[in-house]
Formats: sequence, C-alpha cells, structure tokens
Amino acid sequence: MTVEAAAQLAYLVSVALFVVGLKRLASVRTARQGNLLLASGMGLAVIVTLVEQGRLSYQWIILGVAIGTGLGVLTVVRATATSMPQVVARFNGYGGAASALVALALFAQELVVPGADSVLVRLGATSASTLAVSIIIGMATFSGSVIAEAKLWGSLRRLGRVPGRFVLLLLTGLLAIGAAGAALVLDDVVHASVAAGVLALMTLAIGILIVAPVGGADMPVMISLLNSLSGLAAAATGFALGNVLLIMAGTIVGAAGLMLTLIMCRAMNRTLGNVLAGGLGSEDAADGDEATTYENIVASDPEEAAMVLEVARSVIIVPGYGLAAARGQHAAAELADALAARGVDVRFAIHPIAGRMPGHMNVVLAEADVPYERLVEMDQINRDFAQTDVVIVVGANDVINPAARQASGTPIAGMPILEVDQAQRILVIKRSLSPGYSGIKNELFEEDHCTMLFGDAKQVLDELVGELAANPA
Ligand code: TAP
Repeated sequence: MTVEAAAQLAYLVSVALFVVGLKRLASVRTARQGNLLLASGMGLAVIVTLVEQGRLSYQWIILGVAIGTGLGVLTVVRATATSMPQVVARFNGYGGAASALVALALFAQELVVPGADSVLVRLGATSASTLAVSIIIGMATFSGSVIAEAKLWGSLRRLGRVPGRFVLLLLTGLLAIGAAGAALVLDDVVHASVAAGVLALMTLAIGILIVAPVGGADMPVMISLLNSLSGLAAAATGFALGNVLLIMAGTIVGAAGLMLTLIMCRAMNRTLGNVLAGGLGSEDAADGDEATTYENIVASDPEEAAMVLEVARSVIIVPGYGLAAARGQHAAAELADALAARGVDVRFAIHPIAGRMPGHMNVVLAEADVPYERLVEMDQINRDFAQTDVVIVVGANDVINPAARQASGTPIAGMPILEVDQAQRILVIKRSLSPGYSGIKNELFEEDHCTMLFGDAKQVLDELVGELAANPA
C-alpha cells in the first residue's frame, strides 16, 4: 500500500470517528465517549496529515502543537461550568482563524515562488477562489466570535446599533471582494501581499459589524451560525489545499452548525435574514433604571413558599441561566423529588434558549440525574400552565418575560416564551430585580399571583427542601 493510499484510509477512519462521535454527543449518557472518539479522530487526522504532507520541519510542527495545546489546555482549565458558552464561542473563533491562517500561508507560499505567475494562475480558478472564500469566512468568523464571546461575558452587552452599519457593511464587502480579486490576479509580491492584508482587515471588520448589534433572542442563533461558519471556512481551506479530510470534517461541522442554526431560528421565531440584518435583535434594551424600577412587588421567604407548595397538586419548575450560575441543579432535583414523594405532579419546563448555550438546561439537569421524563419542551408544556397550581421560576427571566409577546420594541420581541403567567401561583427565585440577558424589565414580577423569593438559587432551593422535610405530608 502506498503512503497516499494509507493516508486516505486513515482519513476515512477519522471521518468515521467524527460521525460516530457526533452521534454519541446527542445523548448525555454517551456524550463523554463521543467526545473521546472525536478527539481521537482529530488526533489521527493531525498525525496523518503531518506524515503525509511532510512539508514542514519538525521544529515548527512541535512549536505549533505546543502553542495550540497550551492555548486549549489553558482555556479549558480556566473555564467554569457557567463559562462553557464563552469557551464554545472562543473555539469557533479559533477554528475560523486557523482556516484563514492556513489559507494565507498557502497564498504566501504560492506567491513567493521566484518568477512565478499570480496565485490565480498557479492554483487554478477553483482552488484560488476557495482560498479567498476561506480567508473571508475564517477572518469574519474569528472577529465575530471575539465580539460574541465579549457579549456573553457581559462586557459588550450594551453595544447596540452601529451608525451607518449597512453602508459600512456594503463598503467593507465591496473592498473585500476587490482586494480578494487583486490578491489573486496580481503577480507582484508586494502588491498582492498588500491586497491580501486589506482583504484580511476588511473581513475582520465585516465580522465585527455583523455581530455587534446582535442581542437578546438573536444571540443563540448567531452563536450557532458562527459555529457553522467555522466549519465552512475549514471546508473551503480543504478545497484550496486539495485535502479531502479537511473538506469532509469542515462540511460535517458546517452542516451540523447550520441545522442547529435553523432549529434555533425556528425556536426563536426568527428568520436567518432577520438575525443577519440585526433587525429584531437590534432594538436597544431599556436603560438601567427603567429595567429595574418596579411597583407592586410581593416578596416572601422559603417558609411561606413551602406552605404554598405543601397544598399544590401540580408544580412546574422553570430553570434558567441563574440556576446554572448558582450550581443549584442538585437542589432543584432534590426539590422535585421531595414534591414527587408528596404525590405532586412535578415537571421541568425547558425553553430552547434558556441559559447561555443550546441545550444548557438539559445538560445542567442531566448532571443532577433529573429523569428525562420530567423534562418537557416548551411547545408541549405551554398547554399545561393554565392547569398548574404552582410554577417555580429558578434563575430564569427573558424566557418567561411577557414583553416578548409584543411584535417589536425589545430585543426579545416575537420570541416564544414559557407561558408561566397562566398558572395559579408563580414563585420566582432570583437575587434581585435585575433584568436578564436582554436587559429589559419583566412585568410578570408585578402580577398579583407572582411572589418573589429573593436569594441565590441554590440557597433558596435548599431552604425549600429543608422546609418540606421539616413538615412531612
Ligand atoms: P436570563 O434572562 O439571562 O436571566 C437569568 C436570571 O438569573 C437573571 O435575571 C438573574 O437575576 C438570575 N440569576 C443570576 N445568578 C443567579 C443566582 N446565583 N441565583 C439566582 N438567580 C440568579 O436567563 P434565561 O431566562 O435563561 O434566558 C436566556 C437569555 O440568554 C436569553 O435572553 C437568550 O437570548 C440569551 N442567550 C442564550 C443563549 C443560548 S444558546 N441559550 C446564548 C446566548 C444568549 P439576578 O441577578 O437578580 O439574580
């Protein structure tokens, strides 16, 4: 068997590991094993590529592997469970940047051949154009992901409308296309390099301009889209390099990310066009005072709340980002068990964008071994709120905010919500009257049948469990 045939076979094994690994990620129980399969597939792919290509000296390879491994390990070691969405955003950005850098390296390699023609002539139209596509998508994915990560940390949360955004996008887009064309057709090293530099800068700007105004219910869609784009950038680089594995791996990521994007769009009642145009999600959030000024707030304590729960026959627990932040999932599971032991029909309502990443609540509750049959998706459980005695909202805010029912005017306008206001009683556990991620006031808290239990989610849940235990049925 030739080296090339052995490499192709190893590539196929890698792709098989990717496909099976992805499938295993779909279930919480098999996800750990899936992750291991994916990492093995990637490890095999890296080794085979290095052996097959053999273009670089091993010092450079070792340096690259050391930097990449160091950054990866540092990012993950410093990450907490609640910062996972930021880690995902960062890895999307790394993926985009890696693809663009490989494409730029290929560009430079073809350009500096003494007495050579333009990159277009040397690579041919297909490889040269996919090389430009890789730089465009990769750089935009990188800068967009940096902004997305900053928004998830909360540091750029209030970055709203960019004045003249559409004109700026048009200008940078036209400049990028012009620069890409020039970089590929010019055979003068200096001029073509300047054009490639302009291309990289313009596409970095495009990523920033696209993601900057996105907020509220559009953010989950944008993060899924960036994930898909990082895969497409890798696939484009694969075409430019003629590397089958990169094409296949990039296409898998691109397709999976696109499916997730469409699922998120449907769940959020958005079109991809809306999100990209920054339309629905770009409305400014209320200013700080307006978002925290409430009248008619009724607050209580765990002792009184437990008395309400003691006479309830049906309870729905609505988890949100605050439950994950407080690491209160085990306490929530204990509360559900305590209520079920009293004969209460108890379920968890899962909003598709609750938390900060797709499936966040499912992952968090699975960690506490909450049985799957207790988790009910939004569409299904919304039919049951009107017949429910008590809803316990734990660290959720935007996903239950009735302001989303308005057609426009807020960053969550038009987003489907969990219809908790239809229940007989609502208990809301949060630390203060601060708004949620989208920064807008929640008028649900002022409703007569809503009672606030102020405090850290884990602490309040623990106290509720303690009160129920102190008064057995
Ligand atoms: P949010 O609307 O962000 O509300 C979370 C609430 O939890 C806050 O109001 C906060 O109030 C409370 N909280 C924080 N720490 C707490 C703690 N230790 N104990 C008790 N409460 C705590 O969350 P949500 O309802 O889950 O909605 C998700 C939001 O994130 C949506 O706007 C969505 O668009 C956005 N987003 C989602 C994703 C994905 S993919 N899921 C990605 C990016 C953005 P206090 O500070 O008063 O406690």
